[in-house]
Formats: sequence, C-alpha cells, structure tokens
Amino acid sequence: MGFSRRQFLSNAAVTTASLAIGGDAIAQSQNGNQTPGQASQARELPKPKQPVIITKVTGKQSIDQGWQMLKDGQDTLDAALHICKAQEDDPNDQTVGLGGLPNEEGVVELDSCCMHGPTRKAGSVGGVRNIKNVCLVARDVMRHTGHVMLCGEGAERFAVAMGHPRENLLTEPSRKMWLLWKETNSTQDWWGAGPDDTRWKTPEAPQITLERKRKKLIELAADFGIEPELRERAAEYILFPPTGTIHVSLVNEKGEMSGATTTSGLAWKLPGRLGDSPVVGAGCYCDQDVGSAGATGSGEENIKIAGAHTIVENMRRGMSPREAGMEALQRIVRNYNHDMNRLRYVEMVYYILRRDGQYAGVSLWSNNPSGKPLRFAVHDGSSRLEQTVALLQGNSISWPAEPKPVEEKR
Ligand code: GLY
Repeated sequence: MGFSRRQFLSNAAVTTASLAIGGDAIAQSQNGNQTPGQASQARELPKPKQPVIITKVTGKQSIDQGWQMLKDGQDTLDAALHICKAQEDDPNDQTVGLGGLPNEEGVVELDSCCMHGPTRKAGSVGGVRNIKNVCLVARDVMRHTGHVMLCGEGAERFAVAMGHPRENLLTEPSRKMWLLWKETNSTQDWWGAGPDDTRWKTPEAPQITLERKRKKLIELAADFGIEPELRERAAEYILFPPTGTIHVSLVNEKGEMSGATTTSGLAWKLPGRLGDSPVVGAGCYCDQDVGSAGATGSGEENIKIAGAHTIVENMRRGMSPREAGMEALQRIVRNYNHDMNRLRYVEMVYYILRRDGQYAGVSLWSNNPSGKPLRFAVHDGSSRLEQTVALLQGNSISWPAEPKPVEEKR
C-alpha cells in the first residue's frame, strides 16, 4: 500500500525535526519511548515541596507576600507580577516604573515581559511612556490580544484602553539627576560604537580621579536641589548609569511556574532603545517542564545570547541551574573573544529556577560597579539574600559613561 501525499509530507516533517534536535532525542524516538512532539523534553523533574521564588535584591520588600500568594494557591504569574508591581509603584526604585531614570531626552520609557507556565503564553511591551505598571500591561497583551509584543505609542494607547491611567513617571529626584547628567556627563552617551565593536577603544584614564569626580558631582547635586540623602546616589548614577530592572521567577507546590521582568532600562539611553527586558527569551523565559530564568544587567549583551532561553534549554539538557547560567555567561565571554578590558563594561546577573526548586543566582562579575558584592533574593520557606556565584572576580564598569577610573591611592 502506497503513502498518500499527506502522509509523506507529515513523515518528512518528523524526520527533519528529529535530525534537527540532536542525537539523544533521535535515539529516544527510535527506541519508541517518546513521540516526536515529546522529543525535546528532558526527564520529568519532580515538583518542589515548598514554593520557591528567586528575584533581584530589591524584590525582598514584597517577596514574603508573593510567597504567601503561592502558598494560598493563587496564580503563579499573579504572584510574580505582585513583586514586579511593588517596584514599579515605588518611586525610590529609580530603575523600574514610577521614578525610573529617563532617556537622554528626559523621558521615562519602560519595558516588560512575562511568561505564564500553565498556559504557555507570553506578553510583552517595550518603550512605553506615561504608564506605570507595564508588567500588568504585558499581561494584558498576553490575555487580551492575539499578539505577544506591543511597543511605543501603540502599547501606550492599548494600556489606556485596558484602563491603565496615564501619569507623569518622571519624579523630581529623577528629573534633577537627569539635569545633573546633562550638565556634567552627557557627552559620555550611547552614540558611537559600543565595546563589542572593534572600532571601540578602551577610554583613556581621566585627568581627575574617580573620587574627586564623585565629590564634585555630590557638590553639584546640591546646586540642583537634590535632597542630601540622594546626592551620593545621584553621583553614582551619573558615573555608572544603571541598567536596573527586576526579574522574578517562581514555582508553586504543583510545579507550576511563571516569570516576569520589568525595567526603565539603561539610564540616559537613546529614545526608543529597547533592552532585553521586553524580549521573551532574553530578559525572561519560562517553560514549566524545565524551569524559568531572567536577567538584569547589560541588555544588549543578553539579547545576543538569548540568555534566559539559553539557560532554560541548558537545564533541559541536564545541567544544574548554576551550570546552565555559567554556560550562558561563557557565551558572552566568547562574544568578546575573552577580552577582559572590554568585558569590564558588561554587567550581567541571571536568576535561575528549576521546576524542582533548585535555583542559582549567577553573575559575570562578582561585584557591581561600586564594588559591592552582587546578591539576589530567594524565598523557599524562609526569605534571605544570597551572594551570586560569579564567573569573574572584580567589578564591572558601566559603559560608556566613564573611562576606566583611576582609583584614589589610600
Ligand atoms: N537589563 C535591562 C536593560 O538593559 O534595559
């Protein structure tokens, strides 16, 4: 009996897919243990005994509530967005939502994406102005449209249609810090080639030391009317423009997972710049058969290695969360041909959670640009901060704001 054309085409598609997915999967298919549709799935991971949440340090303030939501059986994405929203609502977090540091024109533009494990759906918005809770707008895109991603003006109009209020996101402290940046450092901007480009040269050491520059900025901050308790932070943001962001990955006792990321992105960025946070597969990726991961740090570098997706796929192939994250970081190092002078200008932290509750926080450098060890927040029944496992020891340096600083001799 001959094959029909339809049977032939369907068998041809299966063969092509089997060849593309690698030796192990093919062997399993041939043994008849898995259908081709299951071939990319690793062994089934057990469910955790308790809910587990991993997030950025700033998420510590609402992680207990998020964990209780999971304990009470609420939806995993609702719990993740509860933590993201708390940072978006907090004007003191100047890297997310209300009070986020603006772009080079003084306009706050927000990015966010989310993935809901149980329904395997995703939503994202990028470059949104005037709307504070973009993490909820990303969920609205997921729930109420046939799209995954909306950006710019269209995303803003969609948000308003969904009932999100338009509001001014530029708080007075952020506006004054932007003015301070304009007056003192805006020639060190994001125009021109970046450190991943061969034309880019490591900047010459500045004539004045970092400490003197910091002191001068703190004095000037007073002239701009920046409150005394915010002056050191203003100097820091001008010397080392933050990429900020918060990511949340979590799992409940049923093994259901979700992930979400939200940010105001790189401070003083070019208008319209999108980082990794709205990019599903870079800033956030979740497949509850395996795990969930997300990133904070240099969005451009993370996009190039599709970081969150890469990590989840590494875990699918059997790596531990820590190994999966380290392998992703190695890809960034490879993209820079192991050039440590350039890699100094990359900051990257991954938050990684496997379905069975195993987790890792990994970072490219051990310390942030101010020299503080990088940490992350976790809750698995008790809430705590842990230090990241770093691929490289030392500080990263934000680019391109400041040439490699001359440290004050003590
Ligand atoms: N990771 C946040 C950003 O680059 O915008």
